[in-house]
Amino acid sequence: MAKVFSGMGTSHIPAVGAAIDHGKQGEDYWQGYFKGLEPARAWHAQNRPDVVIIVYNDHASAFSLEQISTFTIGVSDKFLPADEGYGPRKVPVVQGHPALAWHLVESLVLDEFDMAISNNMPVDHGLTVPLSVAYDAPAEWPVKVIPLCVNVIQYPQPTAKRCHDLGVAIRKAIHSYGEDINVSIWGTGGLSHQLQGERAGVINSDFDTVFMDNLVNDPIANTKLTHADFIREAGSEGIEMIMWNIMRGAMAPKVEELYRFYHVPVSNTAYGLQILKDSE
Ligand code: DHB
Ligand code: FE
Repeated sequence: MAKVFSGMGTSHIPAVGAAIDHGKQGEDYWQGYFKGLEPARAWHAQNRPDVVIIVYNDHASAFSLEQISTFTIGVSDKFLPADEGYGPRKVPVVQGHPALAWHLVESLVLDEFDMAISNNMPVDHGLTVPLSVAYDAPAEWPVKVIPLCVNVIQYPQPTAKRCHDLGVAIRKAIHSYGEDINVSIWGTGGLSHQLQGERAGVINSDFDTVFMDNLVNDPIANTKLTHADFIREAGSEGIEMIMWNIMRGAMAPKVEELYRFYHVPVSNTAYGLQILKDSE
């Protein structure tokens, strides 16, 4: 049977991908940030699952306001890096896992989560930056990936609780997959940030810290946050944090925090990273 191997939360700030792609890690602005990634990367080098479910959002790359689905699973065998305006990132093509992806679709829909299914989905910084965070710049990504795309762009987004509950159903689906493989799950986006409007530049470290503490000790507390709570406390794009709840829901009720890194600012955003492991 498959099992849940680990969880990670990480922001997916595009500037991080650009810094790696253009060799800027040694510059004054970036040194402290990339130093903080080192323990996470060392852990990922030693602890490699077979498949990672990456929970992310598309930023008008694969989808637009013409088609909006709340939760979409990518079931193809490969996903090309999206062109976000400067040509696609020169990172490896993302290799999928169609058999597990279809199993997830079936198990989740039978559990009454009505997933949309994508056979062809270019993946943007929301998915490729977390891979760069974990694995830097290899010739091929060392894991297979199932993209799980969440609408955090167009109101009404799913609730924080719905996201947690989806994670619980994903755990059940993984545990009912017949092959002996290790599956990790990453929640991406956030932490507090607002990229536009009068409050552009919002960063709220107190809110981010409580949110990460709750992921370890009291995940249900994070399911009670409303959309307005996220927008008021974490800025209009801070609502991406609901995707970390999907990751947390897929972990055991009790978890151990193996590593946490918080760095402000990265671009206009609070960067957060947390690696979790089931403790039972
Ligand atoms: C930026 C974009 C994002 O999608 C995000 O999650 C954080 C920051 C940006 O454009 O800086
Ligand atoms: Fe984003």
